Amino acid sequence: MIKIHSGAEIEGMRRAGKLAAELLCMIAPHVKPGVTTDELDRLIDEWTEARHARSAPMNYNGFPRSCCTSPNEVVCHGIPGPYVLKDGDIVNIDVTPVLPRKDGWHGDTSATFYVGDPSPQAQHVVEVARECLELGLAAAGKPGARVGDIGHAIQVYAEAQGCSVVRAYCGHGIGKTFHSEPSVPHVGRPGTGPKLKRGMCFTIEPMINLGDWRCHELDDGWTAVTSDGSLSAQFEHTIVVGKRGVEVLTARDRVLVNSEDKPWAKLGPLACFTD
Ligand code: MF3
Ligand code: CO
Ligand code: CO
Repeated sequence: MIKIHSGAEIEGMRRAGKLAAELLCMIAPHVKPGVTTDELDRLIDEWTEARHARSAPMNYNGFPRSCCTSPNEVVCHGIPGPYVLKDGDIVNIDVTPVLPRKDGWHGDTSATFYVGDPSPQAQHVVEVARECLELGLAAAGKPGARVGDIGHAIQVYAEAQGCSVVRAYCGHGIGKTFHSEPSVPHVGRPGTGPKLKRGMCFTIEPMINLGDWRCHELDDGWTAVTSDGSLSAQFEHTIVVGKRGVEVLTARDRVLVNSEDKPWAKLGPLACFTD
């Protein structure tokens, strides 16, 4: 059963989504060479706690931190730790504040950041992933859209760009629970899957690999890495289906920037708006 949210419930989702968007903007300038992923996690946790919210990842099925940090060949669910970000890395930061803290609404959003100067390969996979989210949002916004239309739009574009789409992890229904129906695959066939209806809330979060789509989990039980060691990038938004089109609940009101002096930052994902 896919939950249909009422007007008052969507108001709660708007507040949580806005907080998630602001949290990602807060962390952006801290994503620099020399910082550890643990330090980023600590900043995210403190900022969230100071706003009467909590971090959904903490203790979620035993996850030990407040966000996911996924560098380079890590596809998703990377655990913040002593890893020091270095020039040329890419890193996805995935945040999910819950507002209010108790029995609250979830806002789930992520972006892949360049650390210092990116290689052309890194720029390619990050740009393709960013565009894939845009295309997924556009497909969801078409009248009469079905879940399969979203994955189809993403898959066609990613593969035409010489990249591949991860199959093992999908977007998901969201609300007072972190993960619920529907599952939103980032590959698919048009006209298949559940029809989108007003009041449904879910995420779109394509994971795009520079090489093969296969991935596997490390022994920590969380970290997913590409099986061929190729770079992987991801962007995520939480949306609600409206009367016409979709509303991006985690849309940012400013540009995500971590190095204003870099010309590529203006063109790349750090300067992106998906709203
Ligand atoms: N935020 C992730 C998602 O987009 C889920 C992370 S679950 C965790 O669905 F436990 F790893 F935090
Ligand atoms: Co998600
Ligand atoms: Co997420």
